[in-house]
Amino acid sequence: MTVKERLQQNAALVERELDRLMAREDVDFSYLLAAERYSLLAPRAKRIRPTLVLEFCRMLGGTDKAALPFAAAVEMVHTYSLIHDDLPCMDNDDLRRGRPTCHKEFDEATALLAGDGLLTRAFGLIAENDAVSHEQALAAVAALSRAAGSFGMIGGQVIDLRGEREPLTKETLLKLHAHKTGALIAVSAELGCLAAGVRQGATEIDAACAFAKGVGLAFQIVDDVLDATSSTEELGKPVGSDSKSHKTTFLSFYTPEEALSYARRVSDEAKKALSQFDHADFLTALADYLIDRRC
Ligand code: IPE
Ligand code: MG
Ligand code: MG
Ligand code: MG
Repeated sequence: MTVKERLQQNAALVERELDRLMAREDVDFSYLLAAERYSLLAPRAKRIRPTLVLEFCRMLGGTDKAALPFAAAVEMVHTYSLIHDDLPCMDNDDLRRGRPTCHKEFDEATALLAGDGLLTRAFGLIAENDAVSHEQALAAVAALSRAAGSFGMIGGQVIDLRGEREPLTKETLLKLHAHKTGALIAVSAELGCLAAGVRQGATEIDAACAFAKGVGLAFQIVDDVLDATSSTEELGKPVGSDSKSHKTTFLSFYTPEEALSYARRVSDEAKKALSQFDHADFLTALADYLIDRRC
């Protein structure tokens, strides 16, 4: 099976779970729930973070049943972050995954609340995962909170917005990426380990996070490059959004070719962190696949 096929298989598994989790209705807030579903179940979502959860768990001998609630939770946090990222007060983008952004399809208040709803739900899902021990669930809640919070992804978003108003140094840009994208990708790998029963502080988790941080950085460098070199059709989101808002990105320092070879070096280095695991073939191939992507 190719990487693409396995990604699609994992995506289908996660989407069935998300669909199931989002089935509950209430006529008094059906518009909110429709907005949550619209963004969470967008057809062109790649489901990379949940794939990392599933695959780290599998590699370490855990079950999909244990990994799926964590996978769904991390995708909810990711989706919420994109809904808010697209808002007029943030990146002000109208297109996401080939469709109008949540606030365009619905309205700003509904988009804000849909994000809030998904973020809040995510932590409940982790706490209610009865296929793992309470200790593992607690560790997962703490890890996701750290990764998504002010010292993680949100901190990255703050630097990203600062990068529209003033130039950032290369060092700060690396910090931006490590937080904005790296933190949630790294915690996805960690959640996979926790779902497999690996104890917090174990060397497997350090290795998984080292791999995923590198993959996350490489992923975001490619995101910066695609913003300038891809097309709206391929990407499903507006190209040129970063330069329109004068953001400091990797392309403020490198040509697209240089940036991509930098991303490849980071990704190759990251793959070395997998050397301690047996059966790391898919994750190794995934790292390459994510560099070569066009969307
Ligand atoms: C978004 O980064 C990161 C988070 C939502 C935390 P970007 O603003 O670069 O993402 P795109 O380009 O809109 O997808
Ligand atoms: Mg942004
Ligand atoms: Mg954006
Ligand atoms: Mg971007």
